[in-house]
Amino acid sequence: MEIKKVGICGCGLMGSGIAEVASKAGMKVVIREVNDDFLKKGMGRIEKSLSKAVEKGKLDEAGKKAVLDNISGTTEIDDLKDCDIVCEAIVENLNTKLELYKHLDTIVKKEAIFASNTSSLSITEMGAVTKRADQFCGLHFFNPVPVMKLVEVVKTVATSDATFQTAKTFGEKLGKVVVSCQDTPGFVVNRLLVPYMLDAIRALEQGVATKEDIDNGMKLGCAYPMGPLELTDFVGLDTTYYIAEILFEEFKDHHYAAPPLLKAMVKAGYHGRKTGRGFYDYSKK
Ligand code: CAA
Ligand code: NAD
Repeated sequence: MEIKKVGICGCGLMGSGIAEVASKAGMKVVIREVNDDFLKKGMGRIEKSLSKAVEKGKLDEAGKKAVLDNISGTTEIDDLKDCDIVCEAIVENLNTKLELYKHLDTIVKKEAIFASNTSSLSITEMGAVTKRADQFCGLHFFNPVPVMKLVEVVKTVATSDATFQTAKTFGEKLGKVVVSCQDTPGFVVNRLLVPYMLDAIRALEQGVATKEDIDNGMKLGCAYPMGPLELTDFVGLDTTYYIAEILFEEFKDHHYAAPPLLKAMVKAGYHGRKTGRGFYDYSKK
């Protein structure tokens, strides 16, 4: 099936990025949020990202307008009904996602594919609450979506070969390199990346070094673009915490356990860059 119209649920960090790259690839995009405030914030993020591209001479004003015109924002779930694929990028909570998929299954056209951008939850479990488990897969993009070249395409035992192939082609049309993997917690990248981020928080907790020295250690010593604490701020402390809880529940391995400091910061509302404060203070930027 050729994907011409893309539905997206969630216009947060990831949903807004997926909308931008899908629109840039010439597809019609409908993006759904829970309320107008979140929608406005998410659409503002897309606008900002495109303006940055214009400033850098990668896009002209007409190109920016075309990308924005191709994206329609909504708070009505029914507006997703005639999409060829629905990419879900809502909060990392299984029950919230299951409720959404049950609802989507009743309104979105029967041939459409559902793809979750979950970082750590079971794609199989999500597919099982729909009548289209064979048309269900994972499409795990990376943050920031317009910059990161990878997408993990995740196959469950129920995903049909045709669905997998359509999802893979879709990822490639969005300019991504595809890594395919089985439905396992954390897939390839987060299975390796998340324990590293959590260990950095534990190192800070244990007074091994300052946050700046931990980050500089990995940036200057290993040429990582961001240190692990900066990266956690970038991903979102809330999202990182939810991922850690899910992976720990699955593996029962202490490397995946959420450090108390992470939990305390999330409870205090320090969710990282998106809220202006995480390990670092972004409120003045
Ligand atoms: N949208 C669009 N473009 C962006 C952008 C955004 N949000 N942020 C940066 N860019 C572009 C810039 O325009 C710039 O483009 P050019 O090189 O063409 O000029 C380029 O990216 C570099 O940006 P900057 O010079 O402003 O800043 P930087 O050099 O510090 O790079 C970064 C920013 C790309 C985010 C870099 O720091 C980086 O790669 N960080 C690591 C990101 C990472 O590891 N992501 C994965 C997170 S884990 C995940 O996503 C999975 C999960 O489930 C949790
Ligand atoms: P976010 O908190 O920035 O955005 C989530 C958005 O979903 C919020 O704006 C929220 O209002 C919205 N939402 C909640 N329920 C909804 C519903 N029923 N319908 C429509 N919108 C709804 O989160 P994010 O960082 O964009 O993460 C979204 C998903 O992508 C999660 O599953 C996360 O694990 C995954 N992910 C995150 C990253 C990252 O670096 N942040 C990377 C890859 C994958």
